Amino acid sequence: MMAHKEFIPKISGELPEKGEFTWQSPSNIALVKYWGKKENQIPANPSVSFTLSNCHSITTVKFSKKETSEKVAFDFYFEGQKKDDFNPKIEKFLERISEYTPYLKAYFLEIHSENSFPHSSGIASSASGMSALALNIMSIEREINPNMDDEFFHLKSSFLARLGSGSASRSIEGPLVEWGKHNEFETSSDLFGIKYPHTLHEVFKTYRDTILLVDKGEKTVSSTVGHGLMHGNPFAEARFQQAHDNLSKLVPVLESGELDKFIEIVESEALSLHAVMLSSIPYFILMKPNTLQIIEKIWAFRKETNIPVCFTLDAGANVHMLYPQEFEEKVLELIKNELVAYCQNGHYICDKIGNGAKML
Ligand code: DP6
Repeated sequence: MMAHKEFIPKISGELPEKGEFTWQSPSNIALVKYWGKKENQIPANPSVSFTLSNCHSITTVKFSKKETSEKVAFDFYFEGQKKDDFNPKIEKFLERISEYTPYLKAYFLEIHSENSFPHSSGIASSASGMSALALNIMSIEREINPNMDDEFFHLKSSFLARLGSGSASRSIEGPLVEWGKHNEFETSSDLFGIKYPHTLHEVFKTYRDTILLVDKGEKTVSSTVGHGLMHGNPFAEARFQQAHDNLSKLVPVLESGELDKFIEIVESEALSLHAVMLSSIPYFILMKPNTLQIIEKIWAFRKETNIPVCFTLDAGANVHMLYPQEFEEKVLELIKNELVAYCQNGHYICDKIGNGAKML
């Protein structure tokens, strides 16, 4: 079992003068949701997600040795423009990982990032953005320690990404990633995500995620604040147990491809996530009227056609529609005929299950 100490590197050789790496890293959509955490980004319950493909960040890190080596220094550019708004978040991340990345102090980092999805789409860029940054940092570490194997590279990338944003720990690999200690996942850990280790039925490898953009505005309550409100939520323990149980139930379903059971677990998870938001103090609602309209339309469509499409939600109003590729045409027809009316400016994004981050 990996403890966090094993991620403290032994640096022996000379540090490279300068260099540059670029990684493309995807977003992910959780089937069993992470909501609630302990200190140091330790999740209150395990989660599992589909890795996405089209929704991704591309991040370049140029590193060069600087005069003094007390603290990491960086400039951050978003879509080509220097953007200081993100500095506090990146600074906090670099501080949190500093024990595990002591070599970074020697460098000045120029970080350039862009997203494939519109900035204000309500799609969180923290999973793709933080994982891409973590991967670039690990590429620097691998240059210093060239004997590092791929497994360690992936695990430590996920470990670092987690310290930036919990869900980012699930964006390194694909097509499915599990994060958080769970009895039925022998190598699972609260410290990093692992590639889903059990059998996955072929049908899931074709899954589509069409994201209906209901509300692109700033969220009223950030995820980080929302996680915090699980402390003191009267349903917290029951919710954490439910996530464990749902993950147990999902394992045989992901193997057998029983889509009715898959739908029940996934939709229940989405609604339970929002139920604990409703029962937090202060309480909050991230769904919008159109979120509910869409859910009802999906249920009616499923009843009428028997097409196994389900919805899930993140911490926001947007609706993710999950379904096998085989039904793509019919589902897109439903979206165009009935659901775009509930999307802000008629916007939706077509994505599919993906294989994880790649170096460009
Ligand atoms: C609802 O990973 O964004 O999307 O760790 O504070 O950065 P931080 O939170 P974040 O939370 C995501 C919560 C979720 C469910 C999930 O992705 O599992």
